[in-house]
Amino acid sequence: MSRPWVTVDRLKDHIGETVELRGWVYNTRSSGKIRFLILRDGSGIVQAILYSADKNSPLFQRFDTLTMESSVVIWGKVKEEPRAPGGVEMEMEDFEIVQVSPEYPIQKKEHTTSFLMPLRHLWIRSQKQYAILKVREIVVWKVREFLRNEGFLLVDTPILTPSSCEGTTSLFQTQYFDEKAYLSQSGQLYNEANAMAFGKVYCFGPTFRAEKSKTRRHLIEFWMVEPEAAYYNFEEMMGVAERFIEYIVQETLKEGKEYFQILERDTSSLEKLKTPFPRITYKDAFKILREENSETPDGEDFGGTDETVISNRFDGPVFVTRFPAKIKAFYMQPDPEDAEATLSFDLLAPEGYGEIIGGSERIHDYDLLVKKIHEHGYSEDDYRWYLDLRKYGSVPHSGFGMGLERMVCWLTGIHHIREAIPYPRTLNNLYP
Ligand code: 4AD
Ligand code: MG
Repeated sequence: MSRPWVTVDRLKDHIGETVELRGWVYNTRSSGKIRFLILRDGSGIVQAILYSADKNSPLFQRFDTLTMESSVVIWGKVKEEPRAPGGVEMEMEDFEIVQVSPEYPIQKKEHTTSFLMPLRHLWIRSQKQYAILKVREIVVWKVREFLRNEGFLLVDTPILTPSSCEGTTSLFQTQYFDEKAYLSQSGQLYNEANAMAFGKVYCFGPTFRAEKSKTRRHLIEFWMVEPEAAYYNFEEMMGVAERFIEYIVQETLKEGKEYFQILERDTSSLEKLKTPFPRITYKDAFKILREENSETPDGEDFGGTDETVISNRFDGPVFVTRFPAKIKAFYMQPDPEDAEATLSFDLLAPEGYGEIIGGSERIHDYDLLVKKIHEHGYSEDDYRWYLDLRKYGSVPHSGFGMGLERMVCWLTGIHHIREAIPYPRTLNNLYP
């Protein structure tokens, strides 16, 4: 008799058939003549039930050696069970033990994060972490789908770079044979070159910031998707950004339903999300901060609490635009209506999740860019290739970056960004 190997997520296509499952013991229970095995196989979780008329049968004796996270192959008949999470159950006929685990360090009780973080390589097997990382995977797909449908071409940018994009204070330095190199803070500068070659482009990869700030929103290594487009002005790029967010949210909710259920995430506010998102200027945002008694001085960048205070005035995401040049990166196009300001935008997520997107129109004038490079204390020589883009067919262009983990945090409703990436790199954590 053939007993094909199937995965838990496909069991509903095999009702009435006898199949093989290969996985790990999530949990076991026993009562008299019945044994329950909750099996996980990476694609999902299912309950398998083993009956025996003799409660001391060799089958039961073998079953009772199973411990949490032991690896097993099981065979049995798939049954419809409307009350079960995936709508199916297995009537188990036999099983084979691949390995019996010694006592598993993570028990089915509340553990502290400081206990769990060094066990991250095992912790990702638990239902909540599993669900978060599944949502992350869906978001990545939706990001790529949206951008491809909109005509943005993936053009990869390097991780080892000779110069900075987002300021020198958070640069990760490394040795590149006889030269100094830095881990990429952003693929943007290369994106700009790519946009002049391909029109609309994006990069999506790990980025690094040696940020000394220890907050629930900052990682040292995080993934950023960065679209960039030639001939797009700042308003047009904000339009891309809001449609991008709307698409990711709606599509991820649809495809990730079961994971949002595991996470007990109330998705009603996400479902209501609708473009266009409101736009307020940096100056308007400061009026809100003054009303709410923020102590952040005028002209400074918002703190995490400020972002929450501002976004609490709105139901959904809100754009804050036209930040002062003084607190932003060197490449931002000045605001024609206010010499101190830039054509920049941040998108703040609701529910206190803070800035998920940062973007701007870029300086396209050669002389102005040279001036800004000097004002920031950078060496013109390091940016020679970047300046070339303003020499040969320069055009207005814009782009933005979205932090993948910030997006996942907001969607899943988790408190801390370290759970939105498989192996978080935080200020004090490089292990495992
Ligand atoms: O605002 P940022 O620094 O913008 C840039 O890097 C631009 N060069 C992007 C571009 O225009 N192509 O970062 C963009 C986004 C932020 O809005 C945030 O979501 C995320 O990247 N981000 C971080 N996420 C986690 N940990 C950190 N330390 C982050 N720093 C930025
Ligand atoms: Mg920013």
